[in-house]
Amino acid sequence: MTDSFDREITYLRLSVTDKCNLRCRYCMPAEGVCSLPHERMLSQEEMVMAVRASSELGIRKVRITGGEPLVKKNILSIVENVAAVPGIEKVAMTTNGTLLPSFARELKSAGLRSINISLDTLDAEKYRTISRVGNLEDALKGIECAVETGFERVKINTVLIGGFNDDEIEKLAGLTLRYPVDVRFIELMPMTQDDFFSPDSFIPGSVVLERLAPLERVAPDGSVARLYRLDAALGSVGIISPVSDLFCSECNRIRITADGYVKPCLHSRSEFLIKGLDYDGMKAVIEDAIMSKPARHSTLSYEERSSAGRSMNAIGG
Ligand code: GTP
Ligand code: 5AD
Ligand code: SF4
Repeated sequence: MTDSFDREITYLRLSVTDKCNLRCRYCMPAEGVCSLPHERMLSQEEMVMAVRASSELGIRKVRITGGEPLVKKNILSIVENVAAVPGIEKVAMTTNGTLLPSFARELKSAGLRSINISLDTLDAEKYRTISRVGNLEDALKGIECAVETGFERVKINTVLIGGFNDDEIEKLAGLTLRYPVDVRFIELMPMTQDDFFSPDSFIPGSVVLERLAPLERVAPDGSVARLYRLDAALGSVGIISPVSDLFCSECNRIRITADGYVKPCLHSRSEFLIKGLDYDGMKAVIEDAIMSKPARHSTLSYEERSSAGRSMNAIGG
């Protein structure tokens, strides 16, 4: 359906859990999240019902997010049931990749078509620093496994952090020369407070263009990234710039959180509860949420943090 600003809303980001096996500094607090009781979270049946209602309203693509979706016990069944909803043409997932070797083939059989994997550095010590607990080796194995499994598209998400990984832009972009993957550099959005970040951590996506020049511009793929290509590369290099160059006027998405709220905008506090409703109730609330999507989110900077009211793991990115 079309929202109040004439944007066609076709994309749902469905967060299936706020839990994660990592603790990335820009995403969640060191101590993790205090778990809500099981009854407060959407059940698998409710998730699938919400997807059916969303499909009736014009949603065609569902991205399963978290936290980390692969720590969710019934993830294969969720993917399978979401992919089977009439009208849903594409199911994708965003993951940290570390658990993919145990799941990739079954995910593909369940109907998952493409996969985005987070990777902020190619240095093992730095990977541990940014994720607080993770092992680079696990993430790299996950990426290789995703490529071997033959998903339609594998994208790598790198959050660009000044003084931390801006010295690795060439190396990370170089993955597109070795693997059929897209590497997207994402501007750091100010969500959680962490002493690790300073005003200098927030650098614009244009730094990537300067570092990799000359880059050939390629046609957009319907995502929020501006796309480029290195000479002879197998995939594209993307820039996602929610801070320096908002893409709100082209926004086509809504979000559903694992605790059952529709979030019309990533950076707004406004939320609509669907937990516990029947099919018609859910559909009416999702429709209201779409109609209440704001024209744009507020300006983001080191001083002006997101008004989302949740950390990223509790939203789903
Ligand atoms: P595609 O379906 O491949 O386009 O995926 P995507 O880029 O929408 O999803 P992904 O989960 O890989 O997110 C990449 C980055 O974009 C993450 O940092 C998200 O938080 C961010 N992002 C996704 N949607 C939005 C949005 O609507 N607004 C803002 N500001 N950031 C977004
Ligand atoms: N800023 C930018 N991107 C973020 N992500 C998580 N938190 C942030 C943030 N504060 C990214 C992750 C993952 C995707 C879901 O969102 O790296 O790839
Ligand atoms: Fe987990 Fe992804 Fe958040 Fe990192 S960014 S803590 S991998 S949900």
